[in-house]
Amino acid sequence: MSQQRLKIEAAKAALKYVEPGMVLGVGTGSTVNAFIDELEASGIRLEAAVSSSEATTERLEAIGVEMRELNHCGDLELYIDGADEVDDHKRLIKGGGGALTREKIIAAASRQFVCIVDESKCRPLLGEFPLPVEVIPMARAYVSRQLTRLGGRASLREDFVTDNGNLILDVRNLDLINPVRMERDINQIAGVVTCGLFAARAADVVLVASESGIKTR
Ligand code: A5P
Repeated sequence: MSQQRLKIEAAKAALKYVEPGMVLGVGTGSTVNAFIDELEASGIRLEAAVSSSEATTERLEAIGVEMRELNHCGDLELYIDGADEVDDHKRLIKGGGGALTREKIIAAASRQFVCIVDESKCRPLLGEFPLPVEVIPMARAYVSRQLTRLGGRASLREDFVTDNGNLILDVRNLDLINPVRMERDINQIAGVVTCGLFAARAADVVLVASESGIKTR
């Protein structure tokens, strides 16, 4: 099965968590795009959605979903999003698409976070995928030096500005044996908006699409 086919299978599996009339949090990326297609095909009518990026908003609006600002909602019942890496404890690296900050906010404000991935994203230890860190532009060089002190090698994502007007540093070589501590340490650097580790608030459910079907963690 192709990776795209597996993403579609994961997206389909997420539909069983979606209830008609709910206000749904929706993440960003190609797996989420597959989910939006499956949502449309399912005919499930949401009350509204809260989106983690301009790209997702555009897609949801195109299928007739009403958009709502998070500030106008209480906590959300459900958030559905993909990931770049997933470990056995449902901790994630996210931000390959650069939407990590809004994704982290919506995950924090949601009672259940269902993460949808194909099996290529599963790792015994996080860190093969470079860790995205969103930074305020004037802090770029300072934050890079601090990340070096933490053992990382940061490189600026070229020609990329986040939906929040900030920059992304992609960080290789970090020791993520304790991702909760690394998430906290990076987030404490002045000028960091947030990093793409979702460890303190991991996913609640991970749906992994593989050749042998969907595995639920
Ligand atoms: C977006 O910023 C990311 O966090 C995505 O959720 C992640 O990159 C997964 O994307 P794909 O579904 O395209 O692999």
